[in-house]
Parts: sequence; C-alpha cells; structure tokens
Amino acid sequence: MQISHVIQIKNMKKITNICCIGAGYVGGPTMSVIASQCPDIKVTVVDINQDRINSWNDEDLDNLPIYEPGLKEIVSKARNKNLFFSTEVDKAIDEAQIIFISVNTPTKTYGKGKGQAADLKFVELCARNIAKVAKDDKIVVEKSTLPVRTASAIKSILQHTGNKVNFEILSNPEFLAEGTAIEDLLNADRVLIGGDDTPSGQEAKDTLSSIYEQWLPKERVLQTNVWSSELSKLVANAFLAQRVSSINTISALCEKTDANIQEISRAIGYDSRIGSKFLNASVGFGGSCFQKDILNLVYIARSYGLMEVADYWEQVIIANDYQKSRFAEHMISSLYNTISGKKIVLYGWAFKKDTNDTRESPAIAVADALLEEQAEILVYDPKVSAERIYADLDYLNTRSPEENRRLLKVTNDPIEATAKAHAIAILTEWDEFKTYDWAAIYENMLKPAFVFDGRRLLDTETMNSLGFNYYKIGQS
Ligand code: UDX
Ligand code: ADP
Repeated sequence: MQISHVIQIKNMKKITNICCIGAGYVGGPTMSVIASQCPDIKVTVVDINQDRINSWNDEDLDNLPIYEPGLKEIVSKARNKNLFFSTEVDKAIDEAQIIFISVNTPTKTYGKGKGQAADLKFVELCARNIAKVAKDDKIVVEKSTLPVRTASAIKSILQHTGNKVNFEILSNPEFLAEGTAIEDLLNADRVLIGGDDTPSGQEAKDTLSSIYEQWLPKERVLQTNVWSSELSKLVANAFLAQRVSSINTISALCEKTDANIQEISRAIGYDSRIGSKFLNASVGFGGSCFQKDILNLVYIARSYGLMEVADYWEQVIIANDYQKSRFAEHMISSLYNTISGKKIVLYGWAFKKDTNDTRESPAIAVADALLEEQAEILVYDPKVSAERIYADLDYLNTRSPEENRRLLKVTNDPIEATAKAHAIAILTEWDEFKTYDWAAIYENMLKPAFVFDGRRLLDTETMNSLGFNYYKIGQS
C-alpha cells in the first residue's frame, strides 16, 4: 500500500500548498528540497526580483541564480511538477496554507543600530503584504535569519492589520551551510521549530514538523518556544564563528613560533569534548550569517545593558577583521613593503568553495587593502562573475568605481593570469587550485615568486621545492 505524502494533522486542513517569499540562497534550495521530498505538496517560491525568477525558470539548469552542488538535479526533478518559481507574490500568498518568509535581512546601513542591528524592512513588508492578501487562516514561518523577537513583531503586524484571519507564527531557522546546502537539508542534524505553547500554536508546530518528518527522523525535529528558536540560530552561528576566530588567533601565534596550526587543530580536535570540525585556520570567515548574527547578538545584549556579554562576542568579529588585515599586511611586507604597480593574482573571491556567494568574503577586504597600496590585481574565481566582484568593491566606497576597474581586472584563465605576476594569494579553497600545474605557474611568474595561501590548500614541501616563496597561514 502506498503511503500518502499528504499531510493531515488532527483537525487541520490537509497541507497541499505552501509558498515561500524570497527566492535566494535560503528559500530556493530549501523549497526545492521540500518539493522533491513531498511530491503531493505544491510549493511556490516567489520573489519581487523578476530576473532572479527568470533564472530559476531557465531551461538551462546551469543558469540557476545560485550555485549549489546537487541543486540543479533536485530542481529538474520537481520544477513545474510541484515546484514553481513566480513573481506573483499575492496569488501565492492567497493560495498557500503555510507561508515561509525567506527574504534578506542585511545589517542596517542607516539610523539606530546602524552597522549592527538587522534591517527588518523586507520582513515587515512581507508581513504587511500577507496581512493584506490573506483571506483564510495561515501558518507563517520565519525562515530568514532574524533577531530575537521578530516573530512577535510579525505577529503584531498580522493581528492588527489582517482580515480577521488567524495567523500562527513559527520560527524555523535555517542551519544549512552554503556549498553543502542540499546535503544539509536532506540530512539535517536537526530542524528547529519554535512556536507558541497554545493549542493552536502546538498544532502549527506539529503541522510543520510533519513536513520535515517526511524525510527526517522524528527525533531530529526539535520544538521549542519562539524565543529559544530565534536565539538558538544566533547562538549556533556565534559559536561556530567563535571557533574559527579562536583557531585563527592561534594561527598568528604559530607563525611567530615553530608550532603548526594544523597539528594543533588535530591535537585539540581529538578531545571529544572539543571535536575536530570547524578548526581550519583561514584568512577569515565570511558569509552572510556569521558576522551579521554576531552583530545582532551584540546589539541585543547591549540593548539589555549586558555590556560584558556584548563585548565578549564582539571580540569574535574583531579577531576576524584582524585576521583579514594581518594576511594583507603580511603580503605587503613580504613584497618588500611596496606593491604599487606589482601584479598580484587572487585565486578565489567566494567566501568559501562550492558557492558563488561573496557576501562578507575575506577576499573583498584583502583586495581592498592591496588596492589601497595601488597593486595591480587580477582575480580568478570559477563561479563568481566580474559584475559581482566589482559590485562588492564599489560597495565599500573606498575609491571610485573607475579606479577599481583600472586597478583590478577579472580573468577566466587562472594560469595565463600568472604571467609576470609577483605574487598569488589563495583566498578561497576551490579544489581546482590543488590540481594546477604549479611548476608551470612558477615558470610564468617573476622571481622571487610568492604564494600566500590563506586556505592552507597546498603542500609546503612541494611548493618550496618548486622554488616558491610559500606562506601558509598558521605556519612559520
Ligand atoms: C553558516 C552556518 O554553518 C550555517 O549553519 C548557517 O545556516 C549559515 O551560516 P555558511 O556561512 O554557509 O553557513 O558557511 P560555513 O561553512 O559555516 O562557513 C562560514 C565561513 O567560515 C566561511 O568563510 C568558511 O571558509 C569559514 N571557515 C569555516 C573557516 O575559516 N574555518 C573552518 O574551520 C570553518
Ligand atoms: P538569503 O541568503 O537570506 O536567502 P538572498 O538575498 O539570497 O538572502 O535572498 C532574499 C530574496 O528575497 C531576494 O531575492 C529578494 O529579491 C527577495 N525579497 C526581498 N523582499 C521581498 C518581498 N517583499 N517580496 C518578495 N521577495 C522579496
């Protein structure tokens, strides 16, 4: 007998239709996985950005707006069967029983909380839109990374402006990491669902749980109250970022001594209380979540007068900024304190491998520091476009767009790029960099030929034996 995938909980209506507002790095992959695992549920992902939706609907799956291993296979399986991408936001809201809000929540660039608090204007606009359009009861799920108490703000908007319909608000933070999003979703360590402890809140939590239970064991779906769920997301990311900053500060110490950061990571990682993951020293952490979530945590702690708590977490960001600037300064001092007019090749612009996302990428800070010294930079990244790279630099406002384009060029040929280069910096750990013919690259470059490895990707002995002046972060 075939088990129906249609979800039916107690008195609740069958869940046959869900929508997600925001077709970005979170909404796109998450909804694609839900659609592929729940073939009886119609999943519609909507976005106000027509270009983005066009890309999601592109016949050529290589043109999807985001790159994630395994994503195009999943999209091709479900798209136009039970997975749809559209700009018809109101229609999707009207038809859905469950609405996920997955819009961007960047750090505020203006007003109170500038540079720290999350900008909730996109979330608020969504809530107002749902209130305007909804004609029957809905479960609204906050999926974007949000500061604590956002659920209550959404609730207040929906209750005071809605058409007398009942909204249950759930917090269901996303823990997927880019580059492994599909695997993380299909095989999640845990799914967190926060909601009210009222009977209708419990029913909503159970309803959402049952969707995830289509493919995950029940015990991995954790239910909490809304506050715990929202805060857990910030704390999980703060702990992960803290681990990276911790190991990165020790990498600086290793470079001054004979200690090797990899040996230290291994030695401490064997302690089962510490564990071995997330102990790779690097040029710094990036990504849309770590910095933003810590800034949020700091902001919330300060707003409650918890200055010591705020200062403690702020150090994680200060250490990360130090790691990025330390790397750039080391490059400059190694190149005899003058890089003006010198050709420097940057391998990698994405904040980590297997993604085309560049948000908060350490490459941006390193490039900016080198451009300040008037270096001539050539960037190669297998997945990031030239437009994105220039947009990232222009956003800093450090120099004019013309100046950025004069000093920095983007190339599709990583080997040719090294002709007459003084130095190469590895800023993203793309696997392909390991497969390059480094002997040929050495021949191409001016001597002494420097390689600054911010991702500990290459083998020290091999690089030294080829003749490179090879620097690997965390090793003297
Ligand atoms: C993170 C969280 O892992 C995820 O649970 C959350 O939902 C979103 O934020 P993401 O930013 O996609 O995911 O990537 P992650 O793998 O966590 O890496 C973040 C940054 O830390 C990257 O720049 C990465 O290169 C760096 N990093 C990570 C290190 O430098 N060393 C490590 O050991 C691990
Ligand atoms: P994330 O990493 O959180 O997924 P992204 O920036 O990749 O963030 O994606 C968020 C998406 O949300 C963007 O494509 C943006 O156009 C979309 N968006 C923002 N506000 C709205 C809105 N009010 N209605 C529909 N889509 C929106």
